[in-house]
Amino acid sequence: MTHRAILITGASSGIGRALALEYAAPGVTLHLVGRDAARLEETAAAARAKGAQAQAHRLDVRDRAGLGAALAAIDAQTPLDLVVANAGVTTGLPAGALAEDPEAVRGIIAINLLGALNTIEPMIEPFCARGRGVLALTGSLAALRGLPYSPAYCATKAAVHLYAESLRGKLRQRGVKVSLIVPGFVHTPLNADLVSLKPLAMSDARAARIIRRGLDRGRPTIVFPRLLYWGIRLLTVLPAGLVDYFMVRQHVDVPVTREREALDR
Ligand SMILES: NC(=O)c1ccc[n+]([C@@H]2O[C@H](COP(=O)([O-])OP(=O)(O)OC[C@H]3O[C@@H](n4cnc5c(N)ncnc54)[C@H](OP(=O)(O)O)[C@@H]3O)[C@@H](O)[C@H]2O)c1
Repeated sequence: MTHRAILITGASSGIGRALALEYAAPGVTLHLVGRDAARLEETAAAARAKGAQAQAHRLDVRDRAGLGAALAAIDAQTPLDLVVANAGVTTGLPAGALAEDPEAVRGIIAINLLGALNTIEPMIEPFCARGRGVLALTGSLAALRGLPYSPAYCATKAAVHLYAESLRGKLRQRGVKVSLIVPGFVHTPLNADLVSLKPLAMSDARAARIIRRGLDRGRPTIVFPRLLYWGIRLLTVLPAGLVDYFMVRQHVDVPVTREREALDR
């Protein structure tokens, strides 16, 4: 079943933008959430050029009250059938560093974890009342095994995974599906400055096609690429000390991202 009324957070760039354009077609209404007005509007214009109705909403997912009010208003105007909590950032340890920047860590928790909750929570009641729809969250293969280069990022994504999994059963009884999107490396601005091997990395457009196929089928988890997934699963059953030994010897440099302040409202 394809979706017709869709809201995507983090739609101004990367995976969210590509997913919006993957769905963009006549008869589809897209609500695009992000902070950067120009990039959001560019996505909306590209979606309109493909025949969709598209509205840009400049919102910060950290703003629980503002986002909740906007989501309620949008859902009242266009009952949504797919919401994708996708907005996210990364931060980590530059080569040689031992501890992450505490401000960057608080920032990533506020966006990747609390931002996802701020997006999904207000949608649970309306979706259950209608008895249909898909609530999706973007996790990461980095949630499956802690990586020494980006502890806070892995922790936020692991929390998103367990949150999605925990929601799934009860909402399914009410006709609402929960899909957890678990990407490997996707070429986007998020990891453009990451110095690391990026095995099986793919374009955002390819990732969006895979995600859409999974969402349209109401898949509980949409994991890609499968080979990398099984590789990481293997790491989780090998002795932890051995895996740590090899991981810390890789040259990986993850830039520190200090989040900008919330939008002026
Ligand atoms: N790329 C990968 O390899 C990869 C792999 C696994 C998982 N993921 C996950 O996929 C998701 C999308 O990442 P991406 O790679 O597409 O990165 P991206 O190109 O940097 O896009 C991130 C999006 O999140 C939005 N965003 C960030 N903070 C926000 C905030 N406080 N409020 C509202 N929007 C906010 C950004 O909007 P503005 O720029 O307008 O603020 C942007 O649209 C993230 O959750 C990421 O963790 C990515």
